[in-house]
Amino acid sequence: MKIYAVSDLHVDYPANKQWLDALSLVDYQDDILILPGDVTDNLILLGEVFSQLKKRFSQVMYVPGNHDLWVTRGGTGTSLNKAEQVLALAHREGVLTEPWSYENLTIVPLLSWYDYSFGEPSDWLRRSWMDYHLCNWEEFHDEASAVTDFFLAKNERFFPVENRQIISFSHFLPRIDLMPDHIPTEHRRIYPVLGSVRLDKQIRQLGSYLHVYGHSHVNREVNIDGISYINNAFGNPRETRIAKKALKCIYQFSH
Ligand SMILES: [Fe+2]
Repeated sequence: MKIYAVSDLHVDYPANKQWLDALSLVDYQDDILILPGDVTDNLILLGEVFSQLKKRFSQVMYVPGNHDLWVTRGGTGTSLNKAEQVLALAHREGVLTEPWSYENLTIVPLLSWYDYSFGEPSDWLRRSWMDYHLCNWEEFHDEASAVTDFFLAKNERFFPVENRQIISFSHFLPRIDLMPDHIPTEHRRIYPVLGSVRLDKQIRQLGSYLHVYGHSHVNREVNIDGISYINNAFGNPRETRIAKKALKCIYQFSH
C-alpha cells in the first residue's frame, strides 16, 4: 500500500488526458492518490477525471487549484460558488477533501490561495495572470488576501490532528524559497500569485513532516526546517524539463 501524488494534471491538454486514460486500472488498486488541484475548469471533465481515478486508486484526495475555480467555462456564478460545486462534485464521486487516517498516518488537505506575502503583483502580472480575468471573487471584493483568509479559516476545523505522522497537501506554495535558485528573473514575476506564508504556519501548527504542493509546475523535493516539501506537478505538455510527468510515490506502508 503506497501513497502517490500528482498535481496540475491540466487535462484540457489532450496529451495529459491521454496519459490519464492510459494509467493502469490494476496496479494502484491498494494505493492512495493525492491530487493537489489544477485538473480542469470544466466541471463535466473534472467529474470524469474523479471517476477515472476512483477506479484506479482505493482513495483519492483532492483540493481545488486556481484553474479549477475559473468561472467563464464549465461553471456559473462566482469562484466561491465554483469552489462549492467542485467540492460537492468530489463528494459525490467519493473523492476525499477532508483528512484521512490509516494506522499512525493522517493525510490532511489544506485549502489555500495567494495573498501577495511573496511580493506585490506588477501591472504586467495583473494584465497577464489569467485568474484576474477568469476568477470572480466579488464576495471578497476581489481582494486576494481575503480569499486566502477564507480558505485558511476553513482548514482550522481539521486542527489538531492527533497522530504520529502527518502528511499535508495544498495546491499553493507555503513558502517562496520552494522555488529553486535557478529560476530566471523574468519568471519570478509570477511569485506574488504562488501562495502564502500563512499556509506554512498552518503546516507547522499541524505538525506535518511532509507537505505536497502544486501550482509552480517545478518538480522538486526539498527539506526546509524539518519538513519535506514535494512538488510533482504534471504540468503542460511543453514543460518536459521541469515536470517528470509520472506519478510519484511519496510514502509506503510497511505491509
Ligand atoms: Fe495553479
